Amino acid sequence: MKSQKEAVDKALLFLNERLPTESEIGLILGTGLGDLAQRIDIQERIPYSEIPCFPVSTVESHSGVLLSGTLGGKRVLALQGRFHLYEGYSANEVTFPIRVLAGLGVQTLLISNAAGGLDPSYKAGDLMMLTDHINLQGENPLEGPNVDTWGPRFPDMSAPYDDAMAAMVDEIAIEHGLSIHRGIYAAVMGPNLETRAEYKLLRSIGADAVGMSTVPEVIVARHMGLRVAAFSVITDECIPELLKPVSLDDILAAARRAAPSLSLVFEGIVSRL
Ligand code: HPA
Repeated sequence: MKSQKEAVDKALLFLNERLPTESEIGLILGTGLGDLAQRIDIQERIPYSEIPCFPVSTVESHSGVLLSGTLGGKRVLALQGRFHLYEGYSANEVTFPIRVLAGLGVQTLLISNAAGGLDPSYKAGDLMMLTDHINLQGENPLEGPNVDTWGPRFPDMSAPYDDAMAAMVDEIAIEHGLSIHRGIYAAVMGPNLETRAEYKLLRSIGADAVGMSTVPEVIVARHMGLRVAAFSVITDECIPELLKPVSLDDILAAARRAAPSLSLVFEGIVSRL
């Protein structure tokens, strides 16, 4: 069996031919936020299926394309479509694209996701910037032999989210009149949404939002020394006493409502980097 390092190197060999110009900024466009891609002046669109060893997405709401282009005057690489543990991918597969972005020269990573709001003041369609996270997925992408050239065996997680980018977000919020929550994201395996009792538990341990992604990618990005900013679009309100059934359509609709604001935030950060 090929090691993850060998697989990443193979993908890089291919991509270094296709993408001659370096990009220092990587974007992960989560659920319903593929529209963000419309603000990118795209030079290359590479379907994941063309990249050697790259996993291929199984969820319809996530297309699988690597975009290379410019946003806010900077060169960016954007992953349109991500992989989730609940699809059956291993934590190594879920984070393969992050290893590849880092290998292509990316030093700063901006991530978006859809999440349920646990803080009672959060409404569907709101945005939350992650200040910290709680990994409840029961998996870790760093499990197994460490690749020392990628990062340390025991990476620090005292500050996974970058303070300088958080300060930029304050400026951007004022500039565009946006109100952006700051909170703690709990990552669960999914794919079912939580029970009332689980939402109550998550709130009691300090989480402000809950979702099924992002944390594996952040762990790997930090392992490789990338600077990270991550944002949740609150797609449903998870207050145990007031809980109503939610459909995927409701979740996608809320994500779409927030997409214009999140686009402004991403573009604002990129232009300030
Ligand atoms: N729970 C977990 N993941 C989610 C939710 C939720 O309520 N909403 C969107 N992603």
